Amino acid sequence: MVAEIPSHVVAHPHVLYVGTPAFLVGSTNPDGTANLAAASSSWALGDMLCLGIEADGQTALNLAERPGITVNYPSAPLWPALVRLSRLTGRSPVPAAKADRYTFEPDKFTAARLTPQASELVEAPRVAECLLQFEAAVRRMTPGLDGSYFMVEAEVVRVHADESIVQPGSGEIDPRAWHPLVYAFRHFFDRGDEVGWLPSSRIAPHPPVID
Ligand SMILES: Cc1cc2nc3c(=O)[nH]c(=O)nc-3n(C[C@H](O)[C@H](O)[C@H](O)COP(=O)(O)O)c2cc1C
Repeated sequence: MVAEIPSHVVAHPHVLYVGTPAFLVGSTNPDGTANLAAASSSWALGDMLCLGIEADGQTALNLAERPGITVNYPSAPLWPALVRLSRLTGRSPVPAAKADRYTFEPDKFTAARLTPQASELVEAPRVAECLLQFEAAVRRMTPGLDGSYFMVEAEVVRVHADESIVQPGSGEIDPRAWHPLVYAFRHFFDRGDEVGWLPSSRIAPHPPVID
């Protein structure tokens, strides 16, 4: 049987957000209060996270000065919280480039209708409603090519997960129970059905069956 060949055309997407987990960065303001920012640009290797953080936000200022942060992963039903945060900045005055779209909000947790939860190893609070929460320490911030963003390398120092997504005994996250909020081309999605796994899975009962 011949596989159906996709029919590609040249596309012109206005963003390149192909579908990655959304997350909420908790950081600490100069006065000790908490800031919270929606984000989606990240990858993980080992214990290191690399976050793409806009240079003109309060989050970038906070991360540069106070490296203890939280990275909180909302599950799909929490998407309205990200909409509530999407036009708010913790930076005052609002940077000129954002002034037409953003307003200053010193209490993002309340504005997003989310609950701060004390962290154990870092100053910034976690987001109680998020089933998966990382405490992390910023180790390096590298300016992006055009200066508009930083590549923030942060070491995850503690992982917190709701019991409902943790495999009893092993402490592994059960990917079948975990539903990250996926952000793709400015829309939010729950993740779809499981289609497969790697031989290295610590959850699956047997290796994947493939041709
Ligand atoms: C769904 C979503 C994804 C976003 N992704 C990012 C991101 O990856 N990096 C980033 O710096 N800002 C991202 N933003 C924008 C920030 O949340 C926004 O600039 C906010 O003002 C930052 O707040 P702050 O100024 O208090 O740090 C995203 C916003 C939304 C709603």
